[in-house]
Amino acid sequence: MASDTSSSSAALSAVVAGALAAMKSAPTTDALKAALAQALGKKGELSILKASLGKITDADERREFGQLINSATEAITAASNERRSELENVERDAQIGRERLDITELLLAPSATQRQGRMHLVTQSTERLEDVFIGLGFQIAEGPEVESDFYNFEALNMPPSHPARSMWDTLFIDADPQGSVVLRTHTSPVQIRIMQEWPPPIYAIMPGRVFRRDTPDATHMPVFHQIEGLVIDKNITFADLAGTIEAFTQAFFGSDFTSRLRPSYFPFTEPSAEFDIRRPDGTWIELGGCGMVHPSVLQAGGLDPQEWSGFAFGFGIDRMAKERHGVGDLRDMYSNDVRFLGQFT
Ligand code: PHE
Repeated sequence: MASDTSSSSAALSAVVAGALAAMKSAPTTDALKAALAQALGKKGELSILKASLGKITDADERREFGQLINSATEAITAASNERRSELENVERDAQIGRERLDITELLLAPSATQRQGRMHLVTQSTERLEDVFIGLGFQIAEGPEVESDFYNFEALNMPPSHPARSMWDTLFIDADPQGSVVLRTHTSPVQIRIMQEWPPPIYAIMPGRVFRRDTPDATHMPVFHQIEGLVIDKNITFADLAGTIEAFTQAFFGSDFTSRLRPSYFPFTEPSAEFDIRRPDGTWIELGGCGMVHPSVLQAGGLDPQEWSGFAFGFGIDRMAKERHGVGDLRDMYSNDVRFLGQFT
């Protein structure tokens, strides 16, 4: 009987060695599964050896061989598990590699470059304006788009019922009392807010969105953009205003452009003027309004008119972008048609 057992255990060692080698070298999880079935499956090599257990008559030898089979099963199972996790990692990496999208290819394709976004005309113009004024020593400020009657009108020297209020077709917010809250009709209210907050001297520009009750047409939109300028210092004169407008015109439009001022009226400036710029071909375009800050406005901003003086100006950014890029109709700028917007870089 002893010889039976020893030949069986030799066979078992051979099975284990073969199975372990097969597992170590299994190239895929499928091959590993097959190797495992060959060793441990119902009709596998180990099952056959197990079946021979019954033939061992000596109880001790049978138990001993049974234990050998059990530890062989454990060793083979452990080797299989280890190899499976190795193979799964490799296979997962390969799958990730296969499924990887090479988006650089898309980015480099000319059709994709043409589809890249760009800044809106008005944003481009606003940023250029900001650059020019920063170059002239100005700071940038912003104010709220929903504004109180006080900042939009009253502090700008237009008490309730002042006829000059009708210069702006105002959109009111439903608030109590009626008419106390408006969508700002211009960026001038930010002048007051800055005077109240910043200690003078002040050299600031204030770009932003403004609102008027206007029907859209080629030159009007109910929502558009203005840029306000405010200078407060000692001994500021009208000559400083004219010089600043001229310096800006040449820096923004080019040295072949010039500017002029025409007498006008705004309640918050005295004297007031409209300013136009002259194209190289000799034609003029009206750009905006300006003037010396009215003493009542300085007072509303908390400044002493005996000590401080200043000038202000304001003009439409959309109109300027329209002018600069030869756009025929303002409405095109807001149609969100990428074929139109994509022309301007
Ligand atoms: N706020 C004026 C407007 O919207 C423009 C302006 C600004 C005029 C500053 C004078 C001084 O028409």
